[in-house]
Amino acid sequence: MPVTDAQITDARRFGKVAVLMGGQSAERDVSLNSGGAVLRALQALGVDAHGVDAGHDVLRVLEAGGYERVFIMLHGRGGEDGVIQGALDTLGLPYTGSGVLGSALSMDKLRTKRLWQAHGLPTPAFAELSAGADLAARVHGVGLPMILKPVHEGSSFGMTKVQDVSQLQAAWQAACAFDDTVLAEHWIDGAEYTMGVVGRQALPLIRIETPRTFYDFKAKYDADDTQYHCPCGLDAATEQTLQAMALQAFDVLGCTGWGRVDFMCDADGRPWLLEVNTVPGMTDHSLLPKAARQAGMDFNTLAWRILETSFARRDAHHRPGGGASPSPLYKVQC
Ligand SMILES: Nc1ncnc2c1ncn2[C@@H]1O[C@H](COP(=O)(O)OP(=O)(O)O)[C@@H](O)[C@H]1O
Ligand SMILES: [Mg+2]
Repeated sequence: MPVTDAQITDARRFGKVAVLMGGQSAERDVSLNSGGAVLRALQALGVDAHGVDAGHDVLRVLEAGGYERVFIMLHGRGGEDGVIQGALDTLGLPYTGSGVLGSALSMDKLRTKRLWQAHGLPTPAFAELSAGADLAARVHGVGLPMILKPVHEGSSFGMTKVQDVSQLQAAWQAACAFDDTVLAEHWIDGAEYTMGVVGRQALPLIRIETPRTFYDFKAKYDADDTQYHCPCGLDAATEQTLQAMALQAFDVLGCTGWGRVDFMCDADGRPWLLEVNTVPGMTDHSLLPKAARQAGMDFNTLAWRILETSFARRDAHHRPGGGASPSPLYKVQC
């Protein structure tokens, strides 16, 4: 059952809003950039919004400050994984985006993939590499090339493409610097896409193109040769099929409110889901604002629409994943 979002027309209805940013994760700086942009947007629209850097005393600060609502702009662990969401539920403070379950599942790339598999959604072959495992034996079914990634990280931290088993150990160590659990995933050669979700609206797809090996940290935040195509260049019917798949992938994880689904399409036109971000970047250059602009939504309106998701029924966060029935075979020509 889709969640209907509140439509707020008067900024005062939001009350005093905390824009939570910063935090302790590896993505702290990215979060501060996004949080600053959201804060300026909400203030420009007359919302009584204040920036709160989420330190260890964040709950005390929120209570003492008399905040009525929270815009969660924290990336990574502690902010995007259900931890702050659970604490805010306990305080009875409404917040933007996914609840505990959707946040926690999306932060875990392994469990995300297991759930998608169970629902017949396409995701590349994978293996879990825990400490002490015989790496070469574990990745046997994954197939070369592959990519190794930390299970609970973002911003492409700790990821390496592995072309040969001799590179496994070094790649595993690079991922281990960020996480105890490492995921080996079959490498997809083809086009990369991402789709934003706001409320129940699937935004136009963005096709990402980089001359680098993959869309790594540098390609995301530093490089000036990363290209973002929106419109993405697919025909309308194919784009709609992919949007439906991505929305189903979002629902299956119990995600609500807003987010971004990353996926790729291989040379045969078959899509492969990678991950869901429940608090995607929100700087002026970020992906979701680009797609929103293509859909006719400027940055300020987007921030407002996301804040509206904090009015969604609390029990929306506990609804089962979209009642997704086994998916049709998502075979399209990308
Ligand atoms: N299976 C894969 N095949 C090819 N490239 C991949 C694969 N998985 C990830 N990548 C590349 O790595 C980037 C980051 O991976 P992703 O799983 O989206 O994690 P993050 O949370 O860091 O964004 C992707 O945007 C893509 O460019
Ligand atoms: Mg990603």
